[in-house]
Amino acid sequence: MTNKYMFFIANWKMYGGLNSLNSLHKVVKFFKNFKKKKFIKIIYCPPSTLIRPMLKKLKNSNIEVGAQNCHESNYYGAYTGSINSSMLKNVGAKYVIIGHSENRQAGENDRLINRKIKSAIKAGLKVIFCIGETSKEKRKKITKQVLSKQIKFGLANINKKNKIIVAYEPVWSIGTGLIPKPKELYETISFIKKKIKDYKILYGGSVNPKNIHSLTSIDNIDGYLVGGASQDTKKFIDIIKKTYN
Ligand code: PGA
Repeated sequence: MTNKYMFFIANWKMYGGLNSLNSLHKVVKFFKNFKKKKFIKIIYCPPSTLIRPMLKKLKNSNIEVGAQNCHESNYYGAYTGSINSSMLKNVGAKYVIIGHSENRQAGENDRLINRKIKSAIKAGLKVIFCIGETSKEKRKKITKQVLSKQIKFGLANINKKNKIIVAYEPVWSIGTGLIPKPKELYETISFIKKKIKDYKILYGGSVNPKNIHSLTSIDNIDGYLVGGASQDTKKFIDIIKKTYN
């Protein structure tokens, strides 16, 4: 249980068509009537194809919409298949996830991520910057070094605390049902908070209605980046409700 301001970010990944938007009115209704609504910020990050129709469904709801990645350039260019941050802003996105481990694994490195963050901020988007260690790195006990490097290079020459939300997502926890032990998670979040003061730090990785109570016992977390469970409206609402009681 908590009483502080929390972010609930839904990362739909590469899931969803127009019919996936049909249950969003339940979240809108829930949020409208939720007693603690002043304490929370809900952001949906659907595939880019759904940004516009989703905004229509969420009209006047105070729920915001973001994208899941962007190209590093602010300009139009011959980059088949890519979308840049200005284009995302143009269709109404307010946020963009950058540095997600699924994209790091596909080849994005810290320097590219740094350029993407700069371009997103320049375009007027806020950034959800993801960091996290793999299971191999955890076994080697180099989590802190890995996070330090991702932060150092990812945020190089950027000092925009109010434009960036950091999401700590251990790679071994994403989509596996595993979450870090509370003490371990508390310590890692504290470590990140010490490194980059005054940033909001979220946790992501297998957050669901069953483990949310154990997560809310960790009082230095500023919210959650929810993947799989966020595609199920009931589960996502449950996560929010259970955070506050
Ligand atoms: P998960 O994904 O909640 O399905 O583990 C989280 C994420 O990848 O952002």
